[in-house]
Amino acid sequence: MRLDGRAALITGAGSGIGREAALLFSREGARVVAVDLDEDAAKETASMVDGDAVLPFAADVSRAGDCEAMVAFAERELGRLDVLWNNAGVMLADDDDAVATEESVWDLTMGVNAKGVFLGCKYGIPALRRAGGGSVINTASFVALLGAATPQIAYTASKVAVLSPTRELAVIHGGEGNRVNALCPGP
Ligand SMILES: NC(=O)c1ccc[n+]([C@@H]2O[C@H](COP(=O)([O-])OP(=O)(O)OC[C@H]3O[C@@H](n4cnc5c(N)ncnc54)[C@H](O)[C@@H]3O)[C@@H](O)[C@H]2O)c1
Repeated sequence: MRLDGRAALITGAGSGIGREAALLFSREGARVVAVDLDEDAAKETASMVDGDAVLPFAADVSRAGDCEAMVAFAERELGRLDVLWNNAGVMLADDDDAVATEESVWDLTMGVNAKGVFLGCKYGIPALRRAGGGSVINTASFVALLGAATPQIAYTASKVAVLSPTRELAVIHGGEGNRVNALCPGP
């Protein structure tokens, strides 16, 4: 199994890509902390796996204290952290063009999608260092490369704010034995 003995933390693991990743990682031998704002959804992900291979944890990735707590939980329960996947993200229904989008929509989107990745790294990278080096995965989007043909100005900006910092993180923390990559899924 490709992840035998590895310890991983995945945010946004109560749904979609994060849930599928948690299930795949556990099938490949990893133990996983499945983090989500929606505690019930995180628990549902954990319940899809036998035993305690996936542990649920409720956290809002836009809050520093929550990110510190999720990493501490992972190290305490799994003994180490090898993989940090900052995946949680939102695309709000009222994210629109530059004229129609409310400031609150911009702030919430940037808070989760961009600051959430920063905070995940702020608390997660020291844990990877303690494990001797590991892997950071940040979920961006194809819109970070291309922009979007539909009006979603806050989301598009937030994913650029994932992709470029990922390149910087890869250079800055590569010398510590860490790999840092971004994924750019399409719809
Ligand atoms: N699905 C796509 O088409 C697509 C395309 C490109 C990029 N992405 C990105 O992939 C990632 C996952 O997308 P998805 O389609 O699986 O989304 P999803 O909505 O199915 O899952 C996202 C999860 O994140 C959680 N979440 C939201 N805000 C949170 C917060 N503040 N703290 C912790 N958890 C929070 C939600 O509760 C949800 O369970 C996102 O970053 C998204 O922007 C998705």
